[in-house]
Amino acid sequence: MICIKNLSKHFKNETAIDYKDMTFEDGKSYMLLGASGCGKSTLLNMIAGILSPEGGSIEVNSVDITTLSQKERDKLRIEKIGYIFQDFKLITDMSVIDNINILRLEGVNTEGADKILEALDILDKKNKKVKHLSGGQKQRVAIARAIVKEPDIILADEPTGNLNFAIGEEVIKTLVEISKGKTLIAVTHDDRLAKYFDYVIDMNEMTGGRRDV
Ligand SMILES: Nc1ncnc2c1ncn2[C@@H]1O[C@H](COP(=O)(O)OP(=O)(O)OP(=O)(O)O)[C@@H](O)[C@H]1O
Ligand SMILES: [Mg+2]
Repeated sequence: MICIKNLSKHFKNETAIDYKDMTFEDGKSYMLLGASGCGKSTLLNMIAGILSPEGGSIEVNSVDITTLSQKERDKLRIEKIGYIFQDFKLITDMSVIDNINILRLEGVNTEGADKILEALDILDKKNKKVKHLSGGQKQRVAIARAIVKEPDIILADEPTGNLNFAIGEEVIKTLVEISKGKTLIAVTHDDRLAKYFDYVIDMNEMTGGRRDV
């Protein structure tokens, strides 16, 4: 379970975002909607322990990660969190499988890679360089890399951002299917995808306190 309380983030005294309290239950899927700039990516980055808040707490399985050192947060992220970034963060000059196997450097067991690539229907692209793949295929590589370590929590920032609706819908269906039993928090602008999630959270309402300072 992820519990967020009194959370606030300030960027260099320019923007301050106050988040209302939220709880994400184990094994449920959440879709985050909201206007550009309302603080969706910032929230995912704080849950992942990449950004630190200025106030409040983020409990992940009863541990307040805001009290941990950066090293401890990195360890937690590597072990428990799969993060699909808005811009994929794939190494385009490397093959699909090497983009996954590189996680071995962090101690991740990648033996399940073939099975996941097959479920995502890109096993035949395994040895192709990422730069030679289509947008939807890259997206699926990013998903495969995030879930190969069987994380408890999957964070997905606009996993369909660059895809047309039909392909985006397929990617979301697969992501939700493959995330069964895990906590999935996905940002998307497309409310037509809401039906695939257990809960939809309007982040405009949850960040009502955003102000320029
Ligand atoms: N590194 C940063 N430095 C300064 N301000 C930042 C930084 N990152 C984000 N912000 C500000 O914080 C606010 C929230 O940004 P965030 O990236 O979380 O928005 P978002 O909801 O993900 O938007 P989008 O839908 O466009 O991706 C914005 O006003 C943005 O300008
Ligand atoms: Mg964003």
